[in-house]
Amino acid sequence: MKDILYIGQIKASEIADKYGTPLYVYNEDTIKRNYKNLIENIKYPKTEIYYACKANYNLTILKILKGLGAGIDAVSPWEVELSIHIGFSPSKIFFTGNNVTDKEIKYVKEHNVLINIDSLSELKRYGKMYPNSKISVRINPNVGAGHHIHVITGGPNSKFGIYYNRTDEIKQIVSDYNLDIIGVHMHIGSGILEPEPFLLGIKSLLTTAKEFNKLDFIDIGGGLGIPYKPEEKPLNIKKFGQRLTEIFTSYAKKHGDVSLRLELGRYLVANSGVLITRVNTVKKTPYKTFIGTDTGFNHLIRPMLYNAYHEIVVVDKMAQEKTQMVNICGNICENGDLFAKDRPMPDIEEGDLLAIMNAGAYGFSMSSNYNFRPLPAEVLVLGNEMKLIRRRETIEDLWRCYE
Ligand SMILES: Cc1ncc(COP(=O)(O)O)c(C=O)c1O
Repeated sequence: MKDILYIGQIKASEIADKYGTPLYVYNEDTIKRNYKNLIENIKYPKTEIYYACKANYNLTILKILKGLGAGIDAVSPWEVELSIHIGFSPSKIFFTGNNVTDKEIKYVKEHNVLINIDSLSELKRYGKMYPNSKISVRINPNVGAGHHIHVITGGPNSKFGIYYNRTDEIKQIVSDYNLDIIGVHMHIGSGILEPEPFLLGIKSLLTTAKEFNKLDFIDIGGGLGIPYKPEEKPLNIKKFGQRLTEIFTSYAKKHGDVSLRLELGRYLVANSGVLITRVNTVKKTPYKTFIGTDTGFNHLIRPMLYNAYHEIVVVDKMAQEKTQMVNICGNICENGDLFAKDRPMPDIEEGDLLAIMNAGAYGFSMSSNYNFRPLPAEVLVLGNEMKLIRRRETIEDLWRCYE
């Protein structure tokens, strides 16, 4: 194992010295590799990759994904607006809202973006507003999965979608307003490392799909996980891709040509990013050693919100023996502000730089100004080049909205 962390061909410490900490750093090549890995392994000819931009909506990252050919899965009108601003064609943006208002429906529709309907109530409201038009419906296929209960978005406890056994009511409303259903959709959860829940969900979704005869696409959602813990194995994308190809080829033969759509966030960007932070305090109590850093759950909330594991390395001591058990914590005034609890680590001194790994998805995009702290800067690395892609916030940014 190398002793020093490189991002692309640049030392993590060099990037931190140049831009300061805390700092998000992304590797463009990793995003490209993840995208390629998907398209090369799903051989069904009409496969479309959409990027769930909630995972990371840095404008430069959106441009990279646009360049690769991805569409956008947007969940708010503002994500729609952002994607249009970046240059995505409205025909490559798909809006999946939850509990949306009529005003939001109108806004998205006026941008010529296809709406994925989440409830029978929304379907009716949409039908009244835009009869004789095209829509997609989100189905709850009665299957859910995910790395944490909060991110299971299918099955009996999920607030999302129209239950799979309500197709008669869907058909009635569709006929009342002369709507065309051109897509059916599911998104059963996030951070899933096994193929089984997807395959079960797809089976149920395809049963629903057969009820509609004007489908252009079937969207199986996002949710493909990445290994965060050392013992976790990546999802076998080759095998999964083969299964998808078989299933959709056979469906298309019997029921007509449809596109297979995936809308992935985490899988595309999570392992491309790290959060670099500097240790400023080492505190030993009679019970614990606390490693205090210059970031906190305001910048990366996943450990606190989901009890999520992130690998943490000392950027210049990667190969050193782990000699101590420590709690690695942030600078926020809550005791739950921990990135790692009782984690074996090498010797850590004040001034050392840590990299919190796999922070490219749901890191910056879920960050906040809690404790009135500014958001970190973001940097992109490509090979031996680095560039600032979002500047660090300033005190002016923090108070600019107040009257
Ligand atoms: C509708 C929808 N699609 C796709 C995704 C992306 O999920 P993931 O990042 O797990 O691929 C989400 C995430 O919450 C979502 O809500």
